[in-house]
Amino acid sequence: MASHWEEFYSTNPQPVNFENNCTLLKNFCESHKKNNQRIVLVTSGGTTVPLEHNTVRFVDNFSGGLRGAASAEYFLDQGYSVIFLHRFNSIIPFTRHFNHLKMLDMLVLQKNEKNVSISIKPDSVDMLAPILVKYQRAQEDNKMLYINFTTLSDYFWLLRACCEYLKDIGANALLYLAAAVSDFFVPSSQMATHKLPSDGVPEIHLQLVPKLLVPIVSLWVPHAFVVSFKLETDESVLISKATGAIKKYKHKLVIGNMLHTRRTRVVFVTEGSNYEIKLTEEQISNGVEIENIIVKNVVSVHTKFIEGTF
Ligand code: PMT
Repeated sequence: MASHWEEFYSTNPQPVNFENNCTLLKNFCESHKKNNQRIVLVTSGGTTVPLEHNTVRFVDNFSGGLRGAASAEYFLDQGYSVIFLHRFNSIIPFTRHFNHLKMLDMLVLQKNEKNVSISIKPDSVDMLAPILVKYQRAQEDNKMLYINFTTLSDYFWLLRACCEYLKDIGANALLYLAAAVSDFFVPSSQMATHKLPSDGVPEIHLQLVPKLLVPIVSLWVPHAFVVSFKLETDESVLISKATGAIKKYKHKLVIGNMLHTRRTRVVFVTEGSNYEIKLTEEQISNGVEIENIIVKNVVSVHTKFIEGTF
């Protein structure tokens, strides 16, 4: 009998552009494997669950993608190559530092009868220059691959493809699963083809989404270091849920966070212990991002994992 996750793949078609993304992933992983380079897969943002095949309405997940986008930058700082699997139109590395309006406010337009030119305001150069340097270095060195998803089904297909190519990277591969993945969905076979009529209360039956951590850890990338996140709104269940995930999926590390304090506090939970990372008031006022500290800690345990001491 097919498992729950196998059935998901057999009943939900590949996303458009899937083959092209597979080629990008293959080339990226192969080129970094040659250099014995560590590669991190960062998943980021929320998945959508369409209610209609010709989708007008969908159920969304709250995540904006800041955790993933900031973490991706800090992994680059730590020398990792990064596959950034993110929700289309969510927050992305580098541009996250200025929203669109802020970007336009940084520009000066000069116009005369013959020419139009655009330059950066002198007082914006200090802010833009270090970000541009990092972005351009990552581009030149081919250190960051951007792959995007929208629906839960896109995410499933692309995540499995990432794992397929990361398998050969062995212990040098790190999975950092920060995306907020829908827990319920409407199976393709039960989804309306056209826009749901609004002349009555719709009957929508949601089903449980299979947990991909099961095949990820046991089948797809058994030698990689897998880090999952656990988001809760009730503090009293955070540690027990995170510990439960470690026992159930048998991976090494869960990072727990609470919805309203996730920017300043997380808990690292491993099989035998847990510890908290919390920004101090001073760090917050100095603009320190918790992802910087999370990533340093994750890299440190990944190093031990590679050395066989974790
Ligand atoms: O984007 P931000 O606003 O910065 O917020 C960041 C965050 C709060 C979304 C992030 O820090 C976080 O906690 N992400 C995980 C959210 C969550 O609890 O997801 P979950 O309970 O659905 O899944 C737990 C873990 O199982 C996740 O690592 C997920 O990748 C994995 N999972 C989930 C669903 C699924 N079908 N299969 C899975 O393997």
